[in-house]
Amino acid sequence: MSTVVAIDGPAGAGKSTVARMVADCLNYAYINTGSLYRALAYAAMTSGVAFDKITPDFLARQQLEFRGADLYLNGQKLDAELRRAECAKGASIISAIPFVRDYLLPVQRNAANGQWIVMEGRDIGTVIFPDAEKKFFVTASAEERARRRLAQAGEVADGATFESILADIKARDERDMNRAIAPLKKADDALLVDTTGIAIEDVVAVIAAYCR
Ligand code: DC
Repeated sequence: MSTVVAIDGPAGAGKSTVARMVADCLNYAYINTGSLYRALAYAAMTSGVAFDKITPDFLARQQLEFRGADLYLNGQKLDAELRRAECAKGASIISAIPFVRDYLLPVQRNAANGQWIVMEGRDIGTVIFPDAEKKFFVTASAEERARRRLAQAGEVADGATFESILADIKARDERDMNRAIAPLKKADDALLVDTTGIAIEDVVAVIAAYCR
């Protein structure tokens, strides 16, 4: 067993908030793996490389490193940049590229480093740590996720509406669930947590209790 609590699920299900709070509650380290895909999308954007034109050589020139929960790209700490809507879209596109996933696999495994850690993403319980100690698949209806996203300043593009966000979420689900490699799906041994209509604190309490 790896000393990992895997929290997977679709975009906007409250996963990041839940994962961070569970980590705090249990006093475990916390890693958000979506930030790695977003960082590579950011690297492509700032280098003028189209998302679907990323090459293995381009990846070899990027240096990604976690220092605690903070992610550094080529020595620069990334934070607000990664939450931009273009980064989210780019991350979803490049995450379907097999050599990108191969490149990020050891980065994620090394980030755990034998410590107790809550790691969130799409394929943590299925691919990155199939032997994780505990696995959760956190989800919510697309409408609830769109409502939550609309309420999060900074995460939505200018002029976005409930309808446009809902359409984005559905398009992202479609891409994430139907890609050929490591698609978003619940591991057979993961606990399904549907957060529709449930307060985040209650979700955290249930997950933390299972981990204890
Ligand atoms: O969790 P997030 O929204 O920051 O993730 C951004 C994109 O990265 C998401 O659309 C799918 C991809 N992703 C992935 O394929 N595998 C992961 N473990 C995490 C994220």
